[in-house]
Amino acid sequence: MRTTKRDTHDELERADAVRATLDPTRVPRHVAIIMDGNGRWAEVRGLTRLEGHRQGREAIRRTLEAARECGVEILTLYAFSTENWRRPLEEVEALMALLIDALEAEADGLHRNGVRLRVSGMIDEMPDDVQGALRRVMALTEGNASLTLNLALNYGGRRELTEAARRLAEAVAAGRLSPDDIDEEALARSLFAPDLPDPDLLIRTGGEQRLSNFLLWQLAYAEMYFTNVRWPDFGKLDFFEAIQAYQARDRRFGGVDLG
Ligand code: IPE
Ligand code: IPE
Ligand code: MG
Repeated sequence: MRTTKRDTHDELERADAVRATLDPTRVPRHVAIIMDGNGRWAEVRGLTRLEGHRQGREAIRRTLEAARECGVEILTLYAFSTENWRRPLEEVEALMALLIDALEAEADGLHRNGVRLRVSGMIDEMPDDVQGALRRVMALTEGNASLTLNLALNYGGRRELTEAARRLAEAVAAGRLSPDDIDEEALARSLFAPDLPDPDLLIRTGGEQRLSNFLLWQLAYAEMYFTNVRWPDFGKLDFFEAIQAYQARDRRFGGVDLG
């Protein structure tokens, strides 16, 4: 469906105009997004929350396109948290069905566009049919290199760190690792996606300004960008504006600016 204001000619022209102002040498390599506000988007329109999630899928399509257009290498999307199981069963089941549907419908398009699908989270604890759909699309797109789409699913930052601690403890108990060897690098290597660099930019839509247990370790030095735009309304213009704001920031990493 391409009926929202975000897909109109005028809006896309404005998006292109903002994109043209971006510095191609300072595009964030890894952008992470907390896609929030689907439910409220639907509620104010008298629609079901599920309709909000459905429209959220269109926002993912627009965001992927925008990310590819400006040269972002990795896009991590928070799609389902370890806490989201607390929602009514009906909503959880609808989200899982939507995910399977989207994976099946988008697989070929993702592959054609050179997108590689990855997942971060407790995937083994997801329903079998979701796992199957994920594994099929990951296998299909494994060799692609234009953009990595990392879906955070059944993801929780505390759970990720707990699992990492357990893995390190097991290695020590088995005599494969000495406690002295546990440093930041060893811990980072034990996380869900050890090969991906930390996000440079975190975007949260929907108006809340919190992390909700997202990438607690990896966001240590990310730039944060919060917008009131609800996820189903998020478009290319919003994405490029976030990149523009990022490029105006001064990342010091604890040091001082000498220039
Ligand atoms: C984000 O939108 C999608 C998921 C968490 C799966 P919400 O469903 O949290 O929408 P709000 O925050 O209730 O508006
Ligand atoms: C964070 O949104 C999780 C996802 C976007 C998947 P929530 O809507 O679950 O976060 P809270 O409950 O407002 O903190
Ligand atoms: Mg929410």
